[in-house]
Amino acid sequence: MDIMDIISKKRLKQELSFEELKYTVDGFLNGSILDCQMSSLLMAIVLNGMTDRETFDLTEIMLNSGATIDLTKIDGIKVDKHSTGGIGDKTSLVLVPLVASCGVKVAKMSGRSLGYTGGTIDKLESIDGYNVSLTSEELVKQVNEIGCALVSQTQELVPADKKIYALRDLTGTVESIPLIASSIMSKKLASGVDKIVIDIKVGQGAFMKDVESAKKLAELMVKIGKNKGKETICVLSNMNQPLGNYIGNALEVHESIDVLKGSGPKDLIEVITTLASLMVQLGKNISLDEAKKEVLDNLKNGKAYQKFVELVEHQGGNVENIPISSHIFSVKSTKTGFVTNIIADKLGELERKMASNRFHQDGLIDHTVGFVLNKKVGDYVLENEELVKVYLNTNDINVKEVLDCFEIEESSSPSLPLIYEIIK
Ligand code: URA
Repeated sequence: MDIMDIISKKRLKQELSFEELKYTVDGFLNGSILDCQMSSLLMAIVLNGMTDRETFDLTEIMLNSGATIDLTKIDGIKVDKHSTGGIGDKTSLVLVPLVASCGVKVAKMSGRSLGYTGGTIDKLESIDGYNVSLTSEELVKQVNEIGCALVSQTQELVPADKKIYALRDLTGTVESIPLIASSIMSKKLASGVDKIVIDIKVGQGAFMKDVESAKKLAELMVKIGKNKGKETICVLSNMNQPLGNYIGNALEVHESIDVLKGSGPKDLIEVITTLASLMVQLGKNISLDEAKKEVLDNLKNGKAYQKFVELVEHQGGNVENIPISSHIFSVKSTKTGFVTNIIADKLGELERKMASNRFHQDGLIDHTVGFVLNKKVGDYVLENEELVKVYLNTNDINVKEVLDCFEIEESSSPSLPLIYEIIK
């Protein structure tokens, strides 16, 4: 087999066989296929797409490229959740203990920040002492004991995706529906779960900019799940502005705790209850209404928060010690009107810049910084009224850069739904 023939075939829109895809992925992993050859093939895939069969095969090949996790020693149905990533998306921090408090086992592996989107693992590391790295044995033991674990994905899992993703990131080949679907699903399937709920973020603060493409991605991931006998449900949710009001690692943990204690902002609660109800429905084989009732009850009666405390303590963390910066700067509106847009990706970029400021020499990130929004899209703001609080560790703030993330007009724009669609 020759990689040049494989590239030509895809360039001519022909279907690649399982053997050709395996030859390519294995060769790229062992270095016999060069970065430039792989990038050329990836670009041909971006432009010419893949058939469903090719996508199923690529998923299978990637998922078997490294270790897989065996969760069969955990009784019951293990339900997982994945988000394609957005700004202020702290849903996993709430969902894992919340769903576990309803009696569904959750062994969740999460990632770090990608581009301008935050990562659950970075957020968890803002909790003093929290250990994100459990071995597979420790993970199984903890889920059997307390019903959940929230850890970092191990290095050995799906190495092919890691290497291919890094190349895609540098070569403008991230935005391909079959490549995204196989990348996400190979990781989910390798982590040994039984059923999967995926939150596909749609909008300017997300990879998927429009509902149509998000729908195509959802349908493909549901098909991949079915093909492997793992029921998969996708929720298409709005990411045209940050989710909730807090952006920044430690700040997002604090907002998650508010939700777990029965308060928190409306949009965040709606996304969380939608995802949690689907996970509980899948895990317990009950109706969606019954599942939703359990979820809402446990947010109000303290059980979800108790489970969070148990989870954090089991993983060595101290819920009483999640420091945030005490240096707060209030950014005020320069005009009166309706907030018509909050440019989520720009705000995410600013947060990342602030977080990498203080400790950049040793590569550590500053978890204590971020934003707390006082106004969201649709709100009316007066000139000189606070738009957002900035938590920072230097005096170095560019107010204009922050203000540029907010669009304020005389009249309000029509509001978009928070949940666009649920695809099964
Ligand atoms: N997230 C992933 O894990 N993979 C992609 O390709 C895109 C987003």
